[in-house]
Amino acid sequence: MLQNKKVLLAVTGGIAVYKACDLTSKLTQAGADVRVIMTESACEFVSPLTFQALSRNPVYTDTFDEKNPKKIAHIDLADWAEIVIIAPATANTLSKIANGLGDDMLTTTLLATRATIYIAPAMNVHMYQNQAVVENMNKLTRHGYHFIEPGAGYLACGYVGKGRLEEPSTIIEVINKHQNEKSLLKNKKVLITAGPTREIIDPVRFFSNNSTGKMGYALAEVAARLGAEVTLVSGPVSLVTKHNKIERINVISAEDMYHAVHKHYSESDIVIKAAAVADYRPKQTHSQKMKKSDDKLIFEMERTKDILKSLGDKKERQFLVGFAAETENHLENGKNKLINKNLDAIVINNVSEEGAGFGTETNKVTYLDKNLKEYPFPLDSKEAISEKIYHQIIKTLEDDNQ
Ligand code: CTP
Repeated sequence: MLQNKKVLLAVTGGIAVYKACDLTSKLTQAGADVRVIMTESACEFVSPLTFQALSRNPVYTDTFDEKNPKKIAHIDLADWAEIVIIAPATANTLSKIANGLGDDMLTTTLLATRATIYIAPAMNVHMYQNQAVVENMNKLTRHGYHFIEPGAGYLACGYVGKGRLEEPSTIIEVINKHQNEKSLLKNKKVLITAGPTREIIDPVRFFSNNSTGKMGYALAEVAARLGAEVTLVSGPVSLVTKHNKIERINVISAEDMYHAVHKHYSESDIVIKAAAVADYRPKQTHSQKMKKSDDKLIFEMERTKDILKSLGDKKERQFLVGFAAETENHLENGKNKLINKNLDAIVINNVSEEGAGFGTETNKVTYLDKNLKEYPFPLDSKEAISEKIYHQIIKTLEDDNQ
């Protein structure tokens, strides 16, 4: 993956700079064209000459050292890079980039680049756990930076703990895997629904369900990470989307969701209906708050539209995936939904199982394809389950094309 890639290695000042030398060498051996920027502190540990010899390119240390009058070095370098690796990344540099500072060659270049940026931090274990550092890292993750977490072990400061720069071979492995994955759903438009719907009774009350949207949001984030253009139609949840390639459309009721989904259906390649859509709504909604009385209260309910079935009925080229939330006979019920709604696959959720279903960080599902072949995905994070779902979908699409 790194063959002929333009890799900019940003080296900041910590004892782990010596490992960045090895990283430079390994990147060059992998066929990458490597350029190195060093901060002033990084130069205290290793001379720029070492990186120049290893990368076979000049090393950049000073924003104002403009060697070519026709170019502005930090902009030129920012535009040139396809991949940026900050290794080692100190707490100080993390803080600067999290806050948009540009006070040296390295930070000005980072501000200007549109390349994929990987950050491999290295610092003392307590610095790594410091709330300010943690907040900076969370902010950078939200902004699309990719962290390669430090390993645990003996640290130069004498402590044993997390903070040691990840091994250069592992850094390269992680980047290779990520670059590979980024293209799995490239050029694909993925439409996802998430969360519950609310069926309004009056201005202060509604019928809804326990869905929190976590599975649908995980599916959206992972699809974006794998290179897809994502439209997320979301019922009311308290989650935020992180990836900038996700277009989020907020809806309230099953009827709203029906219209939003149909609006984007024809242009979609893969459609995954993870939302827990209400099957019924009150026949009558009240414009004023209902007042209590001593009598029983009985609601007459009417059916909402089955959105997934309506998509199955008008399916053309789309790969259509449903979810089945079951508490009993889950395989049998899931199978029936797959057939009745004309799906290409269904993800069956036994929502009464520990760690699976609504509100949990994890899930445990069975993926059933249209040939009724079962793929059990054991208990794992909702992101990991999402990855497995996409790999299965892509495998089916590739098999169908052969
Ligand atoms: N679904 C839908 N529109 C509805 C109800 C469900 O699009 N009005 C979709 C869900 O998003 C999910 C699939 O259908 O992908 C199955 O939903 P589920 O609630 O498990 O089943 P239902 O079809 O509603 O059947 P039942 O409630 O009888 O189990």
